[in-house]
Amino acid sequence: MQSILFLCLGNICRSPLAEGAARAAFADAGIWAEIDSAGTGDWHVGRAPDRRAQAIARAHGVDISGLAARQLHLEDFAQFDLILAADHENLSDLKAMAPQASRAKLALMLDMVPGRAGEAVADPYYGNSDGFARCWADVSAVAAALVAARS
Ligand code: 4NP
Repeated sequence: MQSILFLCLGNICRSPLAEGAARAAFADAGIWAEIDSAGTGDWHVGRAPDRRAQAIARAHGVDISGLAARQLHLEDFAQFDLILAADHENLSDLKAMAPQASRAKLALMLDMVPGRAGEAVADPYYGNSDGFARCWADVSAVAAALVAARS
């Protein structure tokens, strides 16, 4: 069983979308995996995903309205096999916090997608709905690549 944690800054846009896309993709493939998301920051802890994120997920048949933001914590490095950061700042914060004996492999979300290693999932928070549509496309590609790697 694989365990994957998706990480972004606020845990209200990119990582809950990645969590929703991955949960749906793994369920569709009939593969059981532990999937969660978190933020490096604590501003939105306890809140549901941004309404624009909920809307783009719903438009693709995925309900993320029940998710609640949480902050990355030290136990995550022992609990998860893989922690995938949305952008380079998230990844550098993640590496700075990682204990020496981290079980989790740390990478960018798009490192999982052939041909897109090193790319960031852009932060859609201050933009318009186009940004959320791009974000959904990116995290869906990540989810599909993770499932393909397990199939
Ligand atoms: P996320 O987006 O990291 O994809 O959840 C953001 C959410 C909130 C903020 C920034 C990015 N913020 O500055 O409050």
